[in-house]
Amino acid sequence: MKKSYSLNQNLKEKLKPNKKRTLSSQTWLRRQLNDIYVKSAKQEGYASRAAYKLIEINDKYKILKPNSKIVDLGAAPGGWSQVAAKILFKNPKNLETAKLIAVDLLDITHIEGVETIKGDFTDTAIIEEIRNKLSGEKANLVMSDMAPNTTGSKSLDHLRIMNLVELTFNFACEVLADNGVMIAKVFQGGTEAKLLAEIKQKFKEVGHFKPPASRKESSEIYLIARGFKGS
Ligand SMILES: C[S@@+](CC[C@H](N)C(=O)[O-])C[C@H]1O[C@@H](n2cnc3c(N)ncnc32)[C@H](O)[C@@H]1O
Repeated sequence: MKKSYSLNQNLKEKLKPNKKRTLSSQTWLRRQLNDIYVKSAKQEGYASRAAYKLIEINDKYKILKPNSKIVDLGAAPGGWSQVAAKILFKNPKNLETAKLIAVDLLDITHIEGVETIKGDFTDTAIIEEIRNKLSGEKANLVMSDMAPNTTGSKSLDHLRIMNLVELTFNFACEVLADNGVMIAKVFQGGTEAKLLAEIKQKFKEVGHFKPPASRKESSEIYLIARGFKGS
């Protein structure tokens, strides 16, 4: 799975002139056109460049295991689920036994073996739907790439993402099997100290990781909590 993503400058694509584009949309388009992860995602059929973040997290922590049970929160358009499904269902027999439940406010790409739920994870009815799909079985991995729309206020954005992380943690504590793993996207230098302390009580190994595919200018970073101690 390991790849080299060094950008070949000769491949740099030029943006066709279009007077209607704003400066920020031009900058965004130019960055997309010349982003090696965007190009690779297109070539390899991934729904998003985010797929490479999970590939890199998995290269480092080896958290994706065949025939396991995974809940993917904030899954649209589906890059993480595609990466996980490749490993989970590599042996088609595992389509009967492994489980991948993907949840998002938005539509998720169809992926064989993946059960999708469209809705808001902060809504208790949606959490109940995930429980129903797990049908009493424990999960091995709860991973969240959920990010609320940014408001422009750093402190408000921080509070909103921390709320999602806390909900993910509470849910993970409910559904994870012993030694299970939780991944959650956080912003601005990591997880809040109090929440981090609570997470450390429940997991044997807790740390933060910024995969190379995460843009340098983005303050996102991933909380990786391994070895769930049980509820
Ligand atoms: C960065 S994208 C996820 C990309 C995805 N991991 C992939 O690989 O394609 C973040 C997603 O979180 C979702 N999201 C944000 N808040 C959510 C919530 N409360 N419930 C469910 N999904 C949420 C957004 O709709 C968005 O699709």
